[in-house]
Amino acid sequence: QNEIYLKGLGDAVPELPTDLTGLEALAERRLSSAAFGYAAGAAGSEATARANRAAFDRWRIVPRMLRDVAERDLSVRVLGTDMPAPVALAPVGVQSIFHPDGELAAARAAAAAGLPYVLSTAASYSIEEVAEANGDGPRWYQLYWPKDRELAVSFLERAAAAGYSALVVTLDTVALAWRPRDLDQAYLPFLRGIGLANYFSDPVFQKAVGGPVTDANRETAILHWAANFSNPSLTWDDLAFLRDHWRGPIALKGIQHPDDARRAVDAGMDGVIVSNHGGRQVDGAVASLDALAPVVEAVGDRAEVLFDSGIRTGADVVKALALGAKAVLVGRPYVYGLALGGQAGVTHVLRCLQAELDLTMMLSGHTRPGDLGPDLLVRSDA
Ligand code: FNR
Repeated sequence: QNEIYLKGLGDAVPELPTDLTGLEALAERRLSSAAFGYAAGAAGSEATARANRAAFDRWRIVPRMLRDVAERDLSVRVLGTDMPAPVALAPVGVQSIFHPDGELAAARAAAAAGLPYVLSTAASYSIEEVAEANGDGPRWYQLYWPKDRELAVSFLERAAAAGYSALVVTLDTVALAWRPRDLDQAYLPFLRGIGLANYFSDPVFQKAVGGPVTDANRETAILHWAANFSNPSLTWDDLAFLRDHWRGPIALKGIQHPDDARRAVDAGMDGVIVSNHGGRQVDGAVASLDALAPVVEAVGDRAEVLFDSGIRTGADVVKALALGAKAVLVGRPYVYGLALGGQAGVTHVLRCLQAELDLTMMLSGHTRPGDLGPDLLVRSDA
């Protein structure tokens, strides 16, 4: 903030909007409709995506005064990772449709901020390439659990070898939902295979498609991916397989029901991520924020509860933490930053969000994430 004011003395204003919701409108003007639709779109009528945002507005912060807020410390330790603020970059696939450097740029920006970068299985750069770009930064690997067990093991082994310290297993995508904006573009990025670098670079995958992927076997490879991308037959019993093949912390992403959270913890999972995939999977599903408190109530003392879907402002982060999340993941905002300015654009988004979070904490009388509780909030019908 001070940096912005100082630059302002020289008549300079920020190149990108400081209101992260404003980035979407700018991205819509600059991106192709396929790329913008892939980022902004959601399932069906997009009612759940709207509900995710509306849910934040039904909670209001009650600021407290005279509490010595001069020094603040936003750092937390979540899934074994020390982070300077309770914010991680959500796994987002196919980032090279937003910027040629895609995940490499986002992972560099995350490392510079010290915030965890969660690499999607559906990335446009490989596990190893992104690890190299991320360097000493914290990184977690997101698994879309493939049907082929050998391939799943290979992904986990590669991720562990490349320094991804925690595993995020996304459960809500046993199939891609009915997403009209993507369907209307015939899902071009996937058809062209640009989100399949993790697969194409994998020895197990290559063996299955007759060798390294070239123009000759590209179609076979894409069809093999489509057949293997997910396994709708999985049940809670299968989690033992993950525990056997991953030593570090594991969090299940896409949890919305307290009973599912309990089962996750009973199966030895370290955390759950309350998420509805940004409204991209079940249209008509409950707003993710409304699912948070019951999950925290069910397992908050036994596991780490993280949250995503709809975070756009520092106040949103404060509300999610007050309702019991240990940290939040942010998706579309950093994607728009990437689209509009590459690594610098992602850095802009992360700095704005952290600064606004810090100010909201300060102005409402709090100095540490651990101090935030439900007593900070009231329901509002407005
Ligand atoms: C996603 N998300 C997602 N999740 C995941 O586990 N693996 C993935 O590959 C993707 N891909 C993806 C692409 C795009 C373009 C978006 C917008 C989202 C979901 C993501 O991790 C997160 O749950 C949501 O983005 C959170 O909602 P917000 O912050 O976008 O509102």
